[in-house]
Amino acid sequence: MHLIRRFFGFLVATPLTPSEQRQVRDALAPGLARLFFAQRSEDQRHAFVVYERVESSADLAQAALLHDVGKTDSDLGALERSLATIWDGLGRPTSGRWRSYLAHGSSGARMLKDLGADNLAISFAQDHPGPCPEGIDSSSWCRLESADNE
Ligand SMILES: [Fe+2]
Repeated sequence: MHLIRRFFGFLVATPLTPSEQRQVRDALAPGLARLFFAQRSEDQRHAFVVYERVESSADLAQAALLHDVGKTDSDLGALERSLATIWDGLGRPTSGRWRSYLAHGSSGARMLKDLGADNLAISFAQDHPGPCPEGIDSSSWCRLESADNE
Protein backbone atom coordinates (compact mmCIF):
# COMPACT_ATOMS: atom_id res chain seq x y z
CA MET A 1 0.00 0.00 0.00
CA HIS A 2 2.82 2.34 0.97
CA LEU A 3 4.54 1.59 -2.35
CA ILE A 4 1.38 2.34 -4.36
CA ARG A 5 0.71 5.61 -2.51
CA ARG A 6 4.32 6.68 -2.96
CA PHE A 7 4.20 5.77 -6.65
CA PHE A 8 1.18 7.99 -7.37
CA GLY A 9 2.44 10.72 -5.05
CA PHE A 10 5.60 10.84 -7.15
CA LEU A 11 3.62 11.13 -10.40
CA VAL A 12 1.48 14.05 -9.26
CA ALA A 13 4.19 15.95 -7.33
CA THR A 14 4.55 19.61 -8.23
CA PRO A 15 7.80 21.60 -7.94
CA LEU A 16 8.19 23.84 -4.87
CA THR A 17 6.95 27.39 -5.29
CA PRO A 18 9.40 30.28 -4.76
CA SER A 19 7.92 30.90 -1.31
CA GLU A 20 8.30 27.24 -0.35
CA GLN A 21 11.90 27.32 -1.61
CA ARG A 22 12.50 30.33 0.62
CA GLN A 23 11.15 28.42 3.64
CA VAL A 24 13.63 25.63 2.92
CA ARG A 25 16.53 28.11 2.64
CA ASP A 26 15.49 29.65 5.95
CA ALA A 27 15.32 26.25 7.64
CA LEU A 28 18.66 24.81 6.47
CA ALA A 29 22.32 25.85 6.51
CA PRO A 30 23.57 26.65 2.97
CA GLY A 31 25.37 23.31 2.42
CA LEU A 32 22.34 21.33 3.55
CA ALA A 33 20.04 23.49 1.43
CA ARG A 34 22.21 22.68 -1.61
CA LEU A 35 21.76 18.99 -0.84
CA PHE A 36 18.00 19.50 -0.60
CA PHE A 37 17.81 21.29 -3.95
CA ALA A 38 19.98 18.65 -5.66
CA GLN A 39 17.07 16.22 -5.19
CA ARG A 40 14.57 15.57 -7.95
CA SER A 41 11.66 17.98 -7.69
CA GLU A 42 9.33 15.09 -6.76
CA ASP A 43 11.55 14.25 -3.78
CA GLN A 44 11.75 17.91 -2.80
CA ARG A 45 7.94 17.98 -2.75
CA HIS A 46 7.69 14.83 -0.64
CA ALA A 47 10.28 16.11 1.85
CA PHE A 48 8.53 19.47 2.06
CA VAL A 49 5.20 17.76 2.79
CA VAL A 50 6.84 15.77 5.60
CA TYR A 51 8.31 19.04 6.90
CA GLU A 52 4.88 20.69 6.90
CA ARG A 53 3.34 17.68 8.65
CA VAL A 54 5.76 18.06 11.54
CA GLU A 55 4.52 21.65 11.67
CA SER A 56 7.81 23.00 10.35
CA SER A 57 9.29 22.37 13.78
CA ALA A 58 12.86 23.73 13.92
CA ASP A 59 14.34 20.68 15.64
CA LEU A 60 12.80 18.30 13.10
CA ALA A 61 13.41 20.42 9.99
CA GLN A 62 16.71 18.87 8.90
CA ALA A 63 15.46 15.33 9.37
CA ALA A 64 12.17 16.00 7.57
CA LEU A 65 13.65 17.90 4.63
CA LEU A 66 16.68 15.68 4.09
CA HIS A 67 15.56 12.16 5.00
CA ASP A 68 15.58 10.87 1.41
CA VAL A 69 18.63 12.73 0.01
CA GLY A 70 20.33 9.38 -0.53
CA LYS A 71 17.99 8.84 -3.48
CA THR A 72 19.60 11.68 -5.43
CA ASP A 73 22.53 9.75 -6.91
CA SER A 74 20.48 6.90 -8.36
CA ASP A 75 18.09 9.38 -10.03
CA LEU A 76 15.36 6.78 -10.67
CA GLY A 77 11.77 7.61 -11.61
CA ALA A 78 8.67 6.21 -9.92
CA LEU A 79 8.42 3.03 -11.97
CA GLU A 80 12.07 2.03 -11.62
CA ARG A 81 11.98 2.70 -7.87
CA SER A 82 9.00 0.39 -7.52
CA LEU A 83 10.60 -2.28 -9.69
CA ALA A 84 13.88 -2.11 -7.77
CA THR A 85 12.02 -2.45 -4.46
CA ILE A 86 9.95 -5.41 -5.69
CA TRP A 87 12.99 -7.06 -7.28
CA ASP A 88 14.94 -6.67 -4.04
CA GLY A 89 11.95 -7.97 -2.07
CA LEU A 90 12.11 -11.12 -4.18
CA GLY A 91 15.70 -11.57 -3.06
CA ARG A 92 17.09 -10.93 -6.55
CA PRO A 93 20.57 -9.40 -6.89
CA THR A 94 20.81 -5.78 -8.03
CA SER A 95 23.56 -3.59 -9.41
CA GLY A 96 24.22 -0.06 -10.67
CA ARG A 97 21.55 2.57 -10.06
CA TRP A 98 19.09 0.05 -8.62
CA ARG A 99 21.62 -0.99 -6.00
CA SER A 100 22.42 2.65 -5.31
CA TYR A 101 18.70 3.37 -4.85
CA LEU A 102 18.25 0.45 -2.46
CA ALA A 103 21.20 1.71 -0.39
CA HIS A 104 19.81 5.26 -0.18
CA GLY A 105 19.53 5.13 3.60
CA SER A 106 23.21 4.71 4.27
CA SER A 107 24.37 6.96 1.44
CA GLY A 108 22.02 9.74 2.60
CA ALA A 109 23.28 9.39 6.16
CA ARG A 110 26.87 9.65 4.92
CA MET A 111 26.13 12.82 2.91
CA LEU A 112 24.46 14.39 5.93
CA LYS A 113 27.29 13.44 8.27
CA ASP A 114 29.84 14.97 5.89
CA LEU A 115 27.94 18.25 5.98
CA GLY A 116 27.64 18.31 9.77
CA ALA A 117 23.89 17.63 9.99
CA ASP A 118 22.48 16.82 13.41
CA ASN A 119 22.23 13.29 14.78
CA LEU A 120 18.48 13.03 14.35
CA ALA A 121 18.72 13.87 10.62
CA ILE A 122 21.59 11.43 10.06
CA SER A 123 19.88 8.70 12.01
CA PHE A 124 16.48 9.16 10.37
CA ALA A 125 18.01 9.10 6.88
CA GLN A 126 19.83 5.90 7.78
CA ASP A 127 17.16 3.94 9.63
CA HIS A 128 13.69 5.02 8.53
CA PRO A 129 11.32 3.33 8.27
CA GLY A 130 12.03 1.40 11.43
CA PRO A 131 12.20 1.50 15.20
CA CYS A 132 13.78 4.44 16.98
CA PRO A 133 17.51 3.77 17.48
CA GLU A 134 19.09 4.10 20.90
CA GLY A 135 20.20 7.60 21.81
CA ILE A 136 17.56 9.30 19.62
CA ASP A 137 14.53 11.08 21.08
CA SER A 138 11.66 8.65 20.51
CA SER A 139 8.89 11.25 20.29
CA SER A 140 10.77 13.11 17.52
CA TRP A 141 11.33 9.82 15.75
CA CYS A 142 7.62 8.90 15.98
CA ARG A 143 6.53 12.29 14.65
CA LEU A 144 8.85 11.94 11.67
CA GLU A 145 7.83 8.34 10.96
CA SER A 146 4.15 9.14 10.99
CA ALA A 147 4.65 12.28 8.87
CA ASP A 148 6.60 10.22 6.33
CA ASN A 149 3.94 7.52 6.19
CA GLU A 150 0.73 9.56 6.20
FE1 LIG B 1 10.09 9.78 2.86
